[in-house]
Amino acid sequence: MGDAVTFRRMTAGDLDAVLKIEYAAFSHPWTRGIFQDSLNSYDCWVMFEGEQQVGHGVINVIIDEAHLLNITVKVESQGRGLGLLLLERLMQRALELKAGECFLEVRASNQSAYRLYERYGFNEVGRRRDYYPAVGGREDALVMACTLLD
Ligand SMILES: CC(C)(COP(=O)(O)OP(=O)(O)OC[C@H]1O[C@@H](n2cnc3c(N)ncnc32)[C@H](O)[C@@H]1OP(=O)(O)O)[C@@H](O)C(=O)NCCC(=O)NCCS
Repeated sequence: MGDAVTFRRMTAGDLDAVLKIEYAAFSHPWTRGIFQDSLNSYDCWVMFEGEQQVGHGVINVIIDEAHLLNITVKVESQGRGLGLLLLERLMQRALELKAGECFLEVRASNQSAYRLYERYGFNEVGRRRDYYPAVGGREDALVMACTLLD
């Protein structure tokens, strides 16, 4: 059996490790400034496996609507179910904050994230053309939504 997976609120002291995980996982990572602003404005979480920091996620809840803004699992720790655990924890948190629905955008090419969201219960509800910067141009975002239930 692996080490226990735990979650806690992100603090400024976590940012060095968060950025290491973020930069290794994304072609267009969030910067330190974006995370610093997020700490003041959004609900930011870090995930641990035993003592090791293995991921982070950010949600924003406005009245009864949640938005998933970031979900990242450390590259070396991907493909073992941690992404689903993190998503479940973030959606549980959105429910605690009284959200009834969650929306997210995902790059059209990001199949592993898309499948993760579908597995949790998200449905594709729209597309934003050329939403993301991409290597050599722009890329569409798929918009996904999920009703949150206790
Ligand atoms: C998207 C992301 C968060 C998923 O995290 P993850 O920890 O790999 O997610 P999971 O392990 O729950 O699922 C990933 C795959 O592993 C498989 N898996 C899960 N547990 C497994 C296990 N014990 N054994 C074998 N495979 C397993 C899942 O079925 C899934 O397969 P699929 O991609 O073919 O559908 C991660 O890939 C990531 O951080 N990507 C870069 C950042 C990113 O794109 N974030 C989303 C956009 S904001």
